[in-house]
Amino acid sequence: MFAVHLMAFYFSKLKEDQIKKVDRFLYHMRLSDDTLLDIMRRFRAEMEKGLAKDTNPTAAVKMLPTFVRAIPDGSENGEFLSLDLGGSKFRVLKVQVAEEGKRHVQMESQFYPTPNEIIRGNGTEVPGSCLNTVADCLADFMKTKDLKHKKLPLGLTFSFPCRQTKLEEGVLLSWTKKFKARGVQDTDVVSRLTKAMRRHKDMDVDILALVNDTVGTMMTCAYDDPYCEVGVIIGTGTNACYMEDMSNIDLVEGDEGRMCINTEWGAFGDDGALEDIRTEFDRELDLGSLNPGKQMFEKMISGLYLGELVRLILLKMAKAGLLFGGEKSSALHTKGKIETWHVAAMEKYKEGLANTREILVDLGLEPSEADCIAVQHVCTIVSFRSANLCAAALAAILTRLRENKKVERLRTTVGVDGTLYKIHPQYPKRLHKVVRKLVPSCDVRFLLSESGSTKGAAMVTAVASRVKAQRKQIDKVLALFRLTQEQLVDVQAKMRAELEYGLKKKSHGLATVRMLPTYVCGLPDGTEKGKFLALDLGGTNFRVLLVKIRSGRRSVRMYNKIFAIPLEIMQGTGEELFDHIVQCIADFLDYMGLKGVSLPLGFTFSFPCRQTSIDKGTLIGWTKGFKATDCEGEDVVDMLREAIKRRNEFDLDIVAVVNDTVGTMMTCGYEDPNCEIGLIAGTGSNMCYMEDMRNIEMVEGDEGKMCINTEWGGFGDNGCIDDIRTRYDTEVDEGSLNPGKQRYEKMTSGMYLGEIVRQILIDLTKQGLLFRGQISERLRTRGIFETKFLSQIESDRLALLQVRTILQQLGLDSTCEDSIVVKEVCGAVSRRAAQLCGAGLAAIVEKRREDQGLEHLRITVGVDGTLYKLHPHFSRILQETVKELAPRCDVTFMLSEDGSGKGAALITAVAKRLQQAQKEN
Ligand code: BG6
Ligand code: BG6
Ligand code: GLC
Ligand code: GLC
Repeated sequence: MFAVHLMAFYFSKLKEDQIKKVDRFLYHMRLSDDTLLDIMRRFRAEMEKGLAKDTNPTAAVKMLPTFVRAIPDGSENGEFLSLDLGGSKFRVLKVQVAEEGKRHVQMESQFYPTPNEIIRGNGTEVPGSCLNTVADCLADFMKTKDLKHKKLPLGLTFSFPCRQTKLEEGVLLSWTKKFKARGVQDTDVVSRLTKAMRRHKDMDVDILALVNDTVGTMMTCAYDDPYCEVGVIIGTGTNACYMEDMSNIDLVEGDEGRMCINTEWGAFGDDGALEDIRTEFDRELDLGSLNPGKQMFEKMISGLYLGELVRLILLKMAKAGLLFGGEKSSALHTKGKIETWHVAAMEKYKEGLANTREILVDLGLEPSEADCIAVQHVCTIVSFRSANLCAAALAAILTRLRENKKVERLRTTVGVDGTLYKIHPQYPKRLHKVVRKLVPSCDVRFLLSESGSTKGAAMVTAVASRVKAQRKQIDKVLALFRLTQEQLVDVQAKMRAELEYGLKKKSHGLATVRMLPTYVCGLPDGTEKGKFLALDLGGTNFRVLLVKIRSGRRSVRMYNKIFAIPLEIMQGTGEELFDHIVQCIADFLDYMGLKGVSLPLGFTFSFPCRQTSIDKGTLIGWTKGFKATDCEGEDVVDMLREAIKRRNEFDLDIVAVVNDTVGTMMTCGYEDPNCEIGLIAGTGSNMCYMEDMRNIEMVEGDEGKMCINTEWGGFGDNGCIDDIRTRYDTEVDEGSLNPGKQRYEKMTSGMYLGEIVRQILIDLTKQGLLFRGQISERLRTRGIFETKFLSQIESDRLALLQVRTILQQLGLDSTCEDSIVVKEVCGAVSRRAAQLCGAGLAAIVEKRREDQGLEHLRITVGVDGTLYKLHPHFSRILQETVKELAPRCDVTFMLSEDGSGKGAALITAVAKRLQQAQKEN
């Protein structure tokens, strides 16, 4: 009995001594609570540094956005392939997510050895060929599982730091752990692997997601526990990911919701931030590693290094005569001879000491009882430090999560995986305890990931696959707006045919492109002079102008005032409309102090009018937003005169009625005599040009030229371009004031583009592809997308966030993804508009070139209109299209700065001069 007591006393004394000895020797490895709190603070600062745009480039902890935006919600389903590369084992899997509406995951997997060509690459091989080996394993797996005939999406778990700009991409920043294959770093692993897979002709696999193992782990655990928002790996390497608020992630646009950040905390300390706690053993281990100077934190923590640290310590202690009586074995001198599982075995609660003896003997040593106790304690200190460090960094993440959520207490779950955590007997308990001590304000649950990262990766892939399918649907809609070169050539040819048809006497009255003679027969010659009034009705603004033209110097002074025309007047009675116009004239004359003065007036009236002289114009039909009654079939000049008479306040001499295209051509023609075309791309779309009299069959005379107002907006009203019209165009047409009319205009002008966009958005929303499938009242409202909004949305300088703000102003509550789609829709619609307009213009310039028998035509087009002027891309695409379709015409585009009013005044001046001359004769 006494002997037993003595033995026990002896043993505990021995133990105490040994422990003291080791504690003294490894004093530097023991971290106090204060130090841990300090490390926690430092890691918090590192996280912030990595997240901010300006500090990220120099940050050691990279905080990589993963493009995983949500934890699984149970709606994931499908069959997927999965590769799991980078941990201690390389696996290929088939994962079946959710069957028959059940939340259930089934996996079939096969481990493959990771031969040297995967890990290190082989000097004689092609760079990057390690991915060929990976692809070969996948091919083998598919063959054995009889999957080769299937097209399956693949999720790749790749446990290395990768820079991602989307889910299906990952540029390897650097190899870590024991990998160092040549030619892969700085390249996109997904495209490299895709290329490698193409070598297998019978394999059709689509990599939809690249996922870090931490992310996979978090997702695996989140499938079972929705509170899981952190993933930690304590295995061969160590790392963590967590869900960060988008508003804190500078590197990714948008601020809505959250995104998973792969911290790559293994690199903490790579900038020297942990020098004060690193020991001589850490330094020695680092020097002997594959990546010296890198992954400082990881090298103090993870399984790949823990055994080696123990070995270096034992060697040093032996050398100092503190162990094994100063004896060292050659195994103890050999790198890698002590591994994590040794450490774990030595720390086992009961068998630990016996295991230690056995392991030491295997290393060729002859340990005493005291040695065994000391060695066991070395292991404890090393693994305890590992758990402590891990806990400090994890505590920093948890604190950040709590602060992001602005809550007093955080309830959360941490998903964990990795061999060290799994096989070490005390590691989990230590880690949990320290974390709880460091962040008492968090109720943390630790959840071991039972099925590895791939289950989670499959969740991510499932979501990606759904997104991809949705993308396909969106592309299908947008494709309707993409015109091929042949289609454009066809439009050009048809427009040409319609132009010719409208000029022929026998078909003139039937033509949809009306080709209206304007009785404007020449450009101003610079001798015009005088004071004129002008009205400008039919565009965005109604204006009254006073234009003073001075002869000889080609100088014009203008004064104008914009008046509103309320909707009820635009669509009221003709009398009301013209009374309102005269009211505005009266106000203007008053404003200019011109009351009682009778001035000649030019009337820009931007609607189709049949003219028999320059001062007569019978309205054929309203277009755009006008629909006043009792005007169609009436002479608008008469209507204006009558309204002036009704008011009985002043008299005006109405000399000319002019279309806005003609006014624009004249305005530009005053400066450039080569300007023989006028183009409007504004609320409406139209074009006029100078035609040889001999070609205008319905007007007497063959001499000289006359301006023809084509009214090309009506192109297609006979169905000739129905092949390129979409269901959205039909919808817009049917909801318009003039169904069936102005079909070309409705595909090309500002008043309708926004409506087309709105129709597409409604359809995409109905298909569940936008706005969470909810069609808001706003979206149902006609006319919400004015040209100016389209122009803003498509501006290149605009960040997505601003697009969202614009949509919000429009009352559309969109996510960032929604904004991207809306912008694309706008782009597709406006691009088609510009191309169609270009095809029309190409038709006319080619016609003019051929008519004049010229090899090359140089011509200027005077242009006006809000679409042309405000839209960031319309004018460029229009011009490019003309160049492509009419390569033998050298077309100069001249923007009309002063609007059509000036042109109308010039026409009035010419007409007045001719009138005068006639009178004198
Ligand atoms: C596994 C994952 O479960 O955990 C691996 O599927 C991952 O991809 C691993 O790398 C981490 O553990 P270890 O110990 O194998 O590196
Ligand atoms: C202006 C003209 O400059 O351009 C208007 O003066 C014309 O009369 C207009 O209708 C076309 O542009 P929008 O975009 O206002 O229809
Ligand atoms: C290394 C890798 C990291 C990975 C970790 C755990 O630190 O760089 O991406 O998550 O190991 O496997
Ligand atoms: C409409 C009108 C036309 C006008 C064009 C541009 O197409 O019918 O006359 O030129 O809009 O404003």
